[in-house]
Amino acid sequence: VSRVIPVDTFDLVIFGGTGDLARRKILPGLFRRFIAGQMTGESRVIGAARSELDDAGYRDLVCEAIAEFGGAEKDSGRLEEFLARLHYVPIDATGEGGWSDLRDLMRDGVVRAFYFSVAPSLFGALAERLHSNDVAGPDARIVVEKPFGRDLGGARELNATLASHFDERQIYRIDHYLGKETVQNLMAIRFGNVLFEPLWNSHYVDHIQITVAETVGVGGRGSYYDKSGAMRDMVQNHLMQLLCLIAMEPPSQFEADAVRDEKLKVIRALQPVEPHQIVRGQYDAAAGAASYREDAENPRSFTESFVALKLGISNLRWAGVPFYLRTGKKLKARSSEIAVVFKDLPHSMFEGDEKRHRNILSIRLQPNEGIDLQVTIKEPGPGGMRLVDVPLDMTFADALGDEAEAPDAYERLIMDVIRGNQTLFMRGDEVEAAWRWTDPIIEGWEARSDVPKLYEQGSSGPEDAQMLIHRDGRRWRDIR
Ligand code: BG6
Repeated sequence: VSRVIPVDTFDLVIFGGTGDLARRKILPGLFRRFIAGQMTGESRVIGAARSELDDAGYRDLVCEAIAEFGGAEKDSGRLEEFLARLHYVPIDATGEGGWSDLRDLMRDGVVRAFYFSVAPSLFGALAERLHSNDVAGPDARIVVEKPFGRDLGGARELNATLASHFDERQIYRIDHYLGKETVQNLMAIRFGNVLFEPLWNSHYVDHIQITVAETVGVGGRGSYYDKSGAMRDMVQNHLMQLLCLIAMEPPSQFEADAVRDEKLKVIRALQPVEPHQIVRGQYDAAAGAASYREDAENPRSFTESFVALKLGISNLRWAGVPFYLRTGKKLKARSSEIAVVFKDLPHSMFEGDEKRHRNILSIRLQPNEGIDLQVTIKEPGPGGMRLVDVPLDMTFADALGDEAEAPDAYERLIMDVIRGNQTLFMRGDEVEAAWRWTDPIIEGWEARSDVPKLYEQGSSGPEDAQMLIHRDGRRWRDIR
């Protein structure tokens, strides 16, 4: 049974408290933390949004959200108790309405946290009003959702606005990938074992692949997605974070700035990506299934729903080692994996063994979280020393049973906010550095009016993505 450490009493205000993210993730997540015994004492959740609701109306809304997205049905006996901790304040994010009510509701002596689950265009207005109406208090924390800008200029502006009202130690920029259990396991595997770290460099690693494949399309959120595309929606943030954790130098401690300093160094060492090192794709129509353009309701859209790219890191550890990244929607399977492919042995002592044997460490992020190490052994039988590659495969759920059950990314991250632990949140300079690398790629596409390659739904992406890696004499791992 997992150990749960209760957090301090808090007042958590969710701006956008009636919105999609709040209903799907934040509120059901808080309920699960409540059931788990982590949200204790007198902690409260205060929804704040435009709708004219009262506490009772909000409790009804949350009750429905938990029924729909909760995943804690067996504990619904405690739902009333949880609902009693909820309050609601109608608020005008860009005007003055509701702010004094919110101020009156806040208590001293408890952690104050404010979750900005609203359109990014409102972040600045909220920060300013929290401050000018004296709602925040000196140790308040603000939680900021993605997207954090849509380019370097926008991110800088946003950082500057937030910084004029809050210190960096008060700002929690969410990348929910960092809250995923297995993503944190990347650090445990790398830095908690003697086995891997000595080999984790260009002397032993041939290349690294990072795949985040989804089966969903963009239906329903096309209007946001079409202005964003896979590069902004996934690569600049989630894949970049995975890359950082795989490639960074060992921090001296597992502590917010120690970790974030190392991640920043990786981003700063990224080589620019040339046009031939990147492939964009867009999913085509299929029998009975709409095309990307139909889903996005933009018949002339050039937005990409798939990206594959090759990048290099200019530092002593990684020079010469290619990193291949890909992500896309409507692919073959929902499957996220990082694979570290080690180099061939320089010499084989086994006569007649011409097959290429390789050690591959694969870390499955989702689903079916686990690690798999491909090792070479002797094929059983009397036929001499014939070698065969077999998996040393471990699924965390099998190895750990119930203990493998981890809180969802959002639950964990919210609890970290209350604890005041910023390790799994992005620092302002990190986000800016990631945009500095991304911007020229997107600007290049725009300047060339680049047309994404169509790919078949349920495939592994466009043919050109295969070419990207085949030319180097390598191949993508199967999306399974
Ligand atoms: C979000 C993106 O940040 O991450 C979505 O906006 C994407 O487009 C989602 O589907 C993927 O997250 P997860 O947790 O389902 O892998």
